Amino acid sequence: MSEPQNFAGRHVFVAGGSSGINLGIAQAFARAGARVTVISRSAERVEEAAAGLRALGAQALGISADVRDAAAVDAALRQSHAQFGEIDVLISGAAGNFISPAAELSPNGFKTVIDIDLNGTFHVLRMAYPLLRKPGASVINISAPQGVNPTMYQVHACAAKAGIEMMTRVLAMEWGEVGVRVNAISPGPIADTEGMRRLAPSPEALAGMLASVPLQRMGSVQDIADMALFLSSPQAGFVTGTVIPVDGGSSLRGGRDMRASFVPRSAE
Ligand code: COA
Ligand code: NAP
Repeated sequence: MSEPQNFAGRHVFVAGGSSGINLGIAQAFARAGARVTVISRSAERVEEAAAGLRALGAQALGISADVRDAAAVDAALRQSHAQFGEIDVLISGAAGNFISPAAELSPNGFKTVIDIDLNGTFHVLRMAYPLLRKPGASVINISAPQGVNPTMYQVHACAAKAGIEMMTRVLAMEWGEVGVRVNAISPGPIADTEGMRRLAPSPEALAGMLASVPLQRMGSVQDIADMALFLSSPQAGFVTGTVIPVDGGSSLRGGRDMRASFVPRSAE
């Protein structure tokens, strides 16, 4: 689907927007006329991403910031606000993941994923709140099937994404009265992404992943971008507090056993 919506002049801020699914979302909004800021840790990658967005004809900013650092997130949001005004669409998608049995996961390994995914999402939403357009802003968190499906060797990601999904519902209730909608997208297996490289590191694991999708194909980055555009459009004006799976039906299969995908770190 191409972008039917018109986001001309709208301000879109994408946390974790320098690659993969989140960059695809940023590009879709850029093609739809928005002014787009992407943030992530790597200064080189955000600048490259912003240059790509400008090549699509958009005004774009790339800012290096770690979502674990609330002050850095705040500064990035203020810089973006100074340049592009109130934020119309806020995407929180920064994440880190790896496969590890819980019994081998260090406390810092668990904390790291919680800090990036869950605390990072709170930082992005909390610091953005004063700068959001009210009424009218659309906030979208990026979750994952792990948010509802118990997934072996993913205790860190499951806990983090479950927290993000509950945060989505709570903030939809709190911020509904000022006209801010808060939703989440839960992508299924998306082809050619870092997430898939980590969760399905072998051809066998990838084939298993594909076989679990009722629609019998991997998702594309565009599948997720299309849902982000829809959720931010007037057509979704009465939609808030939802977590929408965009997964070809794969979440219908429930929990997942990732043991076959585990590569001990000594073997990496
Ligand atoms: N298995 C088990 N533990 C792991 C691990 C793995 N594969 N990779 C990292 N860890 C642990 C580390 O050992 C460390 O814990 P320790 O201090 O007890 O040894 C802790 O996690 C932090 O690792 P570090 O490399 O310092 O973290 P970082 O902040 O530099 O990077 C990660 C964060 C680990 C999540 C890294 O993989 C990353 O940057 N990911 C972003 C990209 C990504 O994951 N994309 C997919 C999104 S779904
Ligand atoms: P990706 O390309 O690795 O994207 C992750 C992004 O987050 C990168 O831009 C990364 O850039 C940034 N990031 C990581 N840690 C950060 C931090 N501490 N602070 C700021 N930015 C940080 O992975 P992806 O596979 O496209 O995943 C994107 C999102 O989709 C994630 O939320 C993931 O959980 C979700 N998801 C993916 C799949 C899939 O099939 N791939 C399925 C379900 C859900 P830097 O390294 O420069 O920081």
